[in-house]
Amino acid sequence: MKDYLTLAETSEIIGKSKETLRRWDKEGILNAVREPVSNYRVYRKSDVQTLLGNLFDEIVEDDVSNHVKPENEYSILELFAGAGGLAIGLEEAGLKCAALNEIDKWACQTLRNNRPNWNVLEGDIKNFDFSKFKNKVDIVTGGFPCQAFSYAGKKLGLKDARGTLFYEFARAVQEVNPAICIGENVRGLLSHDNGKTLKGMISILDEIGYKVAPPQVLKAINFRVPQKRERLILVGIRKDIDIEYKYPKPHRKIYNLKDALKKSELYNCDVPQSKGSKYPEHKKEVLDLVPPKGYWRDLPLDIQKDYMGKSFYLGGGKTGMARRIGWDEPSLTLTCSPAQKQTERCHPDETRPFTVREYARIQTFPDDWEFAGSISQQYKQIGNAVPVNLAEEIGYSIIKVLNEYYVKK
Ligand SMILES: C[S@@+](CC[C@H](N)C(=O)[O-])C[C@H]1O[C@@H](n2cnc3c(N)ncnc32)[C@H](O)[C@@H]1O
Repeated sequence: MKDYLTLAETSEIIGKSKETLRRWDKEGILNAVREPVSNYRVYRKSDVQTLLGNLFDEIVEDDVSNHVKPENEYSILELFAGAGGLAIGLEEAGLKCAALNEIDKWACQTLRNNRPNWNVLEGDIKNFDFSKFKNKVDIVTGGFPCQAFSYAGKKLGLKDARGTLFYEFARAVQEVNPAICIGENVRGLLSHDNGKTLKGMISILDEIGYKVAPPQVLKAINFRVPQKRERLILVGIRKDIDIEYKYPKPHRKIYNLKDALKKSELYNCDVPQSKGSKYPEHKKEVLDLVPPKGYWRDLPLDIQKDYMGKSFYLGGGKTGMARRIGWDEPSLTLTCSPAQKQTERCHPDETRPFTVREYARIQTFPDDWEFAGSISQQYKQIGNAVPVNLAEEIGYSIIKVLNEYYVKK
């Protein structure tokens, strides 16, 4: 086992930039040492592990800010808008939603109920022509669902992607001709079809006139979100604009479940009461035995075997199964359904899934953002969303580019 980690490895594990690590070295928070053989500056693995353990409950002064004011009015066309996580975050950063497209009627209802003035285009994206927005919006955004292309070999062109939702995203970008386009997706897109899907997307955006910044996976916990969610961000800048895109800087402060559900820097009151789903009796009996921050391995062996079924013998950590979240850690990634097996995220004190409003807080939605439809529809909309605070930080990074662009123009 390796005793030392390089700067890059440490940055990846801790989820902090290399600059932060260099500053921490100077400040004595995490000291680098000279590796005995190569004499390179490296980190002791044990130091990194200790720091990682402390990170979540440490009180850290957050001196990082990505905030920037828009110097003009910039507008967005948001595709695959869902219940508006990305849209509200971008709005909080100071951007204006010109229109939003979404197929799900309950998600559209949510958008309309909360923002009666938003132009919600309900229906399948395939049926919309976006050319009326040509040169009228600055940014096209979209969390298109990930699908493989049938790859013929060589470089992928736009028409080769027909039939996929990425094609529809790229078609909208081509019709609208915005300064910036942003795709958001799950980390899995990096390795989807051995990386070919992502490569194909980048080559299509290049073909339609956009230079794509090296894709990055942003960890929501570094952007004022009390949840270990990750989002892959794909940013394309129109080729006539010679400005380099810079990702938002990660914050130092990491928020936990207590910050989400109690009065904190994130919310000025405890989480409001709301409806929520329940665990079936058998699951409740099992989860009653799991302590905060514990999971299936904390159960007696016979119950482990019974509860896990075949999964018990399949190996792997499965740390999300029969999991109870602790107050002093960020929540694990929320899914579209709060009681499903493999991904239980039980409340720390009570044996139940998080309520709808608790779910919304973990995704950093404002308390007054109401979700339409049945409880399961509401959970789905929340679980699908980009965390609002992460979206806000992405918003600032786009405003920076646009401010610079309009000064030069
Ligand atoms: C990952 S979610 C987007 C979440 C959203 N960006 C947010 O932050 O709340 C993807 C959305 O795409 C929508 N969608 C899927 N197929 C679509 C289609 N053919 N046309 C329009 N929307 C579609 C889904 O209903 C879902 O709400």
